[in-house]
Amino acid sequence: MAGYLRRRRAARQQPSTPAAAASDPGSAAPGSGDARPSAGDGGVAQVNERYSTAAPSAQNQLDLFKGAWTSAVPVPGEVTTSGPRADLFDDGRIDWAIGRLGPLAGKRVLELGPLEAGHTMMLERAGAQVVAIEAHSGAFLRCLVVKNLLDLRARFQFGDFLPYLRTAEEQFDAVVASGVLYHMTRPVELLHLLARHTDRLFMWTHYWHAGLAEERPDVAARFEGTDVDEAGGYRCKVHRYAYREGPAAETFCGGTAPNAAWMERDDILSSLASWGFRDVEVSFDEPLAPHGPAFAFVARRSV
Ligand SMILES: C[S@@+](CC[C@H](N)C(=O)[O-])C[C@H]1O[C@@H](n2cnc3c(N)ncnc32)[C@H](O)[C@@H]1O
Repeated sequence: MAGYLRRRRAARQQPSTPAAAASDPGSAAPGSGDARPSAGDGGVAQVNERYSTAAPSAQNQLDLFKGAWTSAVPVPGEVTTSGPRADLFDDGRIDWAIGRLGPLAGKRVLELGPLEAGHTMMLERAGAQVVAIEAHSGAFLRCLVVKNLLDLRARFQFGDFLPYLRTAEEQFDAVVASGVLYHMTRPVELLHLLARHTDRLFMWTHYWHAGLAEERPDVAARFEGTDVDEAGGYRCKVHRYAYREGPAAETFCGGTAPNAAWMERDDILSSLASWGFRDVEVSFDEPLAPHGPAFAFVARRSV
C-alpha cells in the first residue's frame, strides 16, 4: 500500500476468543467434529462456534473477520487488529478525487473493488450515491459489516465488475477505480469499458516503466514478459505480472486471475484521450513507490 497512506497502531490488543471446547460426544452428529459445546466470548457454553454468546457489540462483528482486515475501520473503541492498518477511511487520494470530480451531492458513483468500504464511506459522506462492486467474498462481507456499523446507504454488489461493465447500459456521474487496473489481465479493455459508462473517472494505479529493473529490481522480478491488449481501437504492449505467493494469504486483495498485466503510464492516459478524456489532472505520482510506480488522476471527457 502506498507510503502516503496514514497508518496507525490500534489502540489496544484484541480480546482473545476462548475457544476451548468442552467435550460432549453425545451432542455431536455422527462423524461431525464441530458440534461440541464450547465456552463462547461470554464465557457461556455454546452449542457450536457459529453462535456467539457474547453481548452484541461492534467488536463482535469485526471479530467475524479477525486477522483478515486491511483497514482501520473507524468505529470508536473497536479494533480490527492489533497491527498497523491502512487508513483507507481517511485517504488523501480520495479527498483529492472528491475535490476534482465536482460536487458529488446526489451524484451516482460506481466504485470498483471497495475492499472494506473505506473509500465508499468517504464518497458517501461527500454526498454520493455509491454502487460498489466487489469480487472477493470475504471483502464483500466485510463491506456489509462496515455498512451496518457505519450506517451506510451504499449498495454493495458481489461479483466481477467486468461482465457487468460489458453488458450493462447504466451511466454513472463518476467512476472511482482505485487499486484495480493493475489487477486486470486486460487493462485496456477495463479502461475502454469505463469510458463507455462515465464522463468522469478517478483512478489510482500502479504502472510499468522501463527503469524498473534498475530502480526496483524486487518489483521488476515479478514480470514475465509482454502481451498486447487492444480495445476500442487502442492497442498497446502490457507487461505480465505474477502474484506468486500472495493469493493464498488471508489478506490478499488482488484480482480474480492468478496473474495480471500492467500498462505503461503513457498508454493509460493516451488510450483514455483517444476516447475523449483529454481533461486530465495527475497527482500522487510516485515512480519509486514500494510496490511499483503509481499515480492517481482524474480524467474528464471533453467534447
Ligand atoms: C488493491 S484492492 C483496492 C482496494 C481499494 N479500492 C483501494 O484503493 O484501497 C483491489 C480490490 O478490488 C477487488 N477486485 C479485483 N478485481 C475485481 C473484479 N474483477 N471485480 C470486482 N472486484 C475486484 C479486490 O477483491 C479488492 O477488494
